[in-house]
Amino acid sequence: MTVREALADAELRLAAAGVETPRVDAEWLVAHVLGTTRSGLAARGDEEVDGLEPLLARREAREPLAYILGEWGFRRLTLKTDARALVPRPETETVVERALALVAETERPRILDVGVGSGAIALALKDERPDAVVVGVDVSADAIALARENAERLGLDVELREQDGVEAAGEGWDLVVANPPYVESLDGLQEELRWEPEVALIGAGAHERLARAAEARFLVFEVGDGQADAVGETLLGAGWRDVRITRDLTGAERVVEGAK
Ligand SMILES: C[S@@+](CC[C@H](N)C(=O)[O-])C[C@H]1O[C@@H](n2cnc3c(N)ncnc32)[C@H](O)[C@@H]1O
Repeated sequence: MTVREALADAELRLAAAGVETPRVDAEWLVAHVLGTTRSGLAARGDEEVDGLEPLLARREAREPLAYILGEWGFRRLTLKTDARALVPRPETETVVERALALVAETERPRILDVGVGSGAIALALKDERPDAVVVGVDVSADAIALARENAERLGLDVELREQDGVEAAGEGWDLVVANPPYVESLDGLQEELRWEPEVALIGAGAHERLARAAEARFLVFEVGDGQADAVGETLLGAGWRDVRITRDLTGAERVVEGAK
């Protein structure tokens, strides 16, 4: 099959499987097999493609594209991604932006990332604030192992520990940042979520527990759709001031922060 034919066929199959962006995903997969980028495909329409089928079958089964490709972009980094941890999301880049803004005036800020997952937030913070002392904790040994692999690949010096976030948050920090599990149930949500670790997705009350436990000058949380106001109230109730909500690039209220 040529690149052109493979793209058309893959797009049809992915659309039939209910994938939200079948053309874009087809391009990612074909580009991956050819060892090129999506924009690099344009000039190679007549080339033969081999080895696409197993990847296409995985995507038809609604496995996240990032797990199939094995890596995914986040801020300036390319992170290794697999089923040991949540796929880093574009909306989480706004969390990093607010975290960087809050410690902009602090020298060598001490930062804790609770629920480090693949390492996305902690590693992006260290990358963009090399003088920061960054610690990432997670209750999942799998996530910590993946975050360590990412830290090594990227040459970023971040301390990673298998530890409960509430316990770590009380240790005294300039900034505590967290994207905790905040989904109540996977019912009605995208099929792709079923491939990601449940401990990364499903949870209730994590924002409140962390807001009460954190000993820090600043706190930055990612929140789920429709949760921002309630989490903001929780922060005020736990003694945080300057509570502020920031929207992500889609316009959804996504980040809640406070100061002490
Ligand atoms: C939504 S994921 C976020 C992963 C990563 N920070 C990101 O933004 O891509 C939540 C993470 O919190 C971890 N987690 C859940 N409960 C925790 C707890 N009590 N203490 C520390 N980490 C926890 C999960 O294992 C998971 O890796």
